[in-house]
Amino acid sequence: MKTLNDFDVKDKLILLRADINSDVSKGKIILSERIIEASKTILELKKKKAKIVILAHQGNSGKRDFVSLKQHAKLLSKYTRVKFIEDVCGEKAIRAIGKLRSGEVILLDNVRFVEDEFNPGKKNNVLLKNLSPLFDLYVNDAFSVCHRDHTSITGFPKNMDSCIGPLVEAELKALEKVSMKNCLYILGGAKPESNIKLLKGNKVLACGLFGQMCLVANGKDLGYQNRYLEDNVLVKGDYKKFKKKLKKKLKNVETPIDFAVIKDSSRKEFLLKDFPLEYEIEDIGEGTIKKYVEEIKKAKAIYMKGPAGSSSDERFAKGTVSLLKAIASSKGFSLVGGGHLSDTIEKYKLPKKRFGHVSLSGGALLNYIAGERLPGIEALR
Ligand code: 3PG
Repeated sequence: MKTLNDFDVKDKLILLRADINSDVSKGKIILSERIIEASKTILELKKKKAKIVILAHQGNSGKRDFVSLKQHAKLLSKYTRVKFIEDVCGEKAIRAIGKLRSGEVILLDNVRFVEDEFNPGKKNNVLLKNLSPLFDLYVNDAFSVCHRDHTSITGFPKNMDSCIGPLVEAELKALEKVSMKNCLYILGGAKPESNIKLLKGNKVLACGLFGQMCLVANGKDLGYQNRYLEDNVLVKGDYKKFKKKLKKKLKNVETPIDFAVIKDSSRKEFLLKDFPLEYEIEDIGEGTIKKYVEEIKKAKAIYMKGPAGSSSDERFAKGTVSLLKAIASSKGFSLVGGGHLSDTIEKYKLPKKRFGHVSLSGGALLNYIAGERLPGIEALR
């Protein structure tokens, strides 16, 4: 696979697919490791005097985090100047791309605002038609989106010169050495579709929205949280059908025995059996943490994906931080993935070197571990 070193990018127009998808709190984008790491690739291209156009996404349609990339440009600009263009592939974007000078950078708006992002094979796909002819090189530096057959991931490499960026290169190199034999899987987060792929005889500790969803699939009534899950968990297609499918795969899955909620602005814990039905669940409780930490101590290899609770809120980071601390102290090889976990490791200054590999990627990494081919990587081969 070609890398940036195979191309002379000086004065060339580069279409850089980055992943700067980050947490959103009350409409505000939280500065993430993904943004910080992407800024390093941008700086490298800038130094080489390329003309850089960044294409990226934020969230998913219908969800609270589906917003424009205006704030991301501001956050990236803390590291290197990035101008935001409120357009993806229309006249405004084309005009701005045409005016770019060497060493300058623009960030186009959320690529998922454009319907054709989801139709990579469509004839006259507007993203491919309008953008491909403008660029000299497409660079995929978004490993965490490589499991998606989306135009910005699989469409461009079929149409033009392409290569992987330094972040994808580093992820692939680290993953070559990984062995997941006899692995303990700790699966959290809000994207259960990928998690379900690992529920095949593996020992799994479920947490986060995924853990709650396992409980609900098994018939537990979590009251208010049932609705919250339905609205916030990312499932393609029918939610009820997905729950039925999940129910059949829960044999080796341990689920939380207690939860933390927000009461009078502070953390309060309840056992699952007395769980009051009117609260939104924010974290796993002390009992679950203790139980899961014991399992981590015994494990030969550990993979954790997705947070155990609302990890960006300090009151509810305890579950995620405690599990990560236990993983860092364990003797087993560990692989930790996803934007929330890499952010938590940085924020709480956990010893990064004590983990086998910390990936910026959640779902893509999981698919990779499950032995699936990643369409984004295949398209570049
Ligand atoms: C992620 O957050 O895992 C990546 O940015 C991919 O996002 P997606 O799951 O919404 O495609």
